[in-house]
Amino acid sequence: MVTALEPLELLERARHAEVDDVEGVRAFVASWTDGAVGDAQMAALCMAICINGITAEATRALCDSMVASGDRLQLERFAPTGDKHSTGGVGDAVTLITVPLAAALGVRMAKMSGRGLGHTGGTLDKLSAIPGMRVDLELVDFVRQLRDVGVAVMGTSTRMVPADKRLYRLRDQTGTVESPALIATSIMSKKIAGGAANIALDVKVGTGAFFPDVAAAREAAEIMVSLGAAWGRDVRYVISDMDQPLGRMVGNALEVRGAAEVLRGGGAEDLGDLSVRMAALLAESAGVVPAGEGEAAAAHALENGDALRMAERWVEAQGGDPRVWTDDDVLPRAPAAISVPAPAGGMVHGLDAREIGEAARWLGAGRLHPAQFIDPAVGVEIHAKIGDGVSEGETVATLHVRDAALADRAMQLVRGAYRIVDAPVDPPTLIHESSEGDG
Ligand code: URA
Repeated sequence: MVTALEPLELLERARHAEVDDVEGVRAFVASWTDGAVGDAQMAALCMAICINGITAEATRALCDSMVASGDRLQLERFAPTGDKHSTGGVGDAVTLITVPLAAALGVRMAKMSGRGLGHTGGTLDKLSAIPGMRVDLELVDFVRQLRDVGVAVMGTSTRMVPADKRLYRLRDQTGTVESPALIATSIMSKKIAGGAANIALDVKVGTGAFFPDVAAAREAAEIMVSLGAAWGRDVRYVISDMDQPLGRMVGNALEVRGAAEVLRGGGAEDLGDLSVRMAALLAESAGVVPAGEGEAAAAHALENGDALRMAERWVEAQGGDPRVWTDDDVLPRAPAAISVPAPAGGMVHGLDAREIGEAARWLGAGRLHPAQFIDPAVGVEIHAKIGDGVSEGETVATLHVRDAALADRAMQLVRGAYRIVDAPVDPPTLIHESSEGDG
């Protein structure tokens, strides 16, 4: 018989070596869920995993235990089903576009989302910027909406992956977000409990991402592929650039505006291209379009308005104002807009995504402490990105501000994010790698 290590013994071992005790991890998570193990011990385990790692078997035990902390949806009767997740970025409004786009192509999108983590934004916070929009759906309503509309998005709750809901916050408070295994288990526990068969992952790499390089992003992506495979899920991924923010909007209502522009057939090119690529992964994996034809089909569904109409039906079904995609005045606006001048003339060589994310968080778009109220209206609008030419003093960004006392620091962060040189600069590669083989 296998005997699990006691929680304290597991922690003491984890201080010196990779966590490898499968039964110990299961018992630890179960005891934490029951209250016998406290948050301090769980935070210590997360820190040990960040520093010393965890084996593949123990990672799977961690993920499965998180899934077992709540209900698991069975969605086979609604096939083909899909879900999408990003490892976290700045200006990353892809979900708002990819979800209705993939649904318009015939994939029923059952999406489990999260709140903002650290300097990165969260889909639930963005959706909450839409007047009336509910993200705390009852399971029965989530499933009914999936059946009737073809799209439903909700967050973790006391019923769905409650272990991730608690752990997400604890990791955010204890500096233990940036571990490939912890990110992978957090994401995949939600994907597995959510029940969709086809999963597309956007694994981000760069200054604004939790992964510093492609190798670390690939490691996390492959952990997620194998966690999904153990549950019979088809998991595909792209590794995409997060050295600069995606799109031109950072902040909750601002990002909804940026997504609306794409859904109307325009908008920021990088945001549109990545959203199309993610929808194509889902459509091909779900078999609703032949392999190799996903991108053309997705681009067509954007152009002909199918994705926009699906987005309207989705928002309306969740209580939101469906005009949000066609009328920007539906969204909250910050009372002041302050221009950020270019610190020098030349070509934008760097636009540090983390600094921009921190500026938006500082203005109130994210949380500096766990109980903080999120201001849906504030954030940073970006006018010049890497590869663009600017003249000294030209407006490179606009701060959308409610509290003028916060503007100076945000201004400093945004100006500091820009690196301007006196030589031509190529825009960065958007997609570095994908599980389908091409970049
Ligand atoms: N998204 C999640 O759901 N979890 C993480 O840990 C990071 C990004």
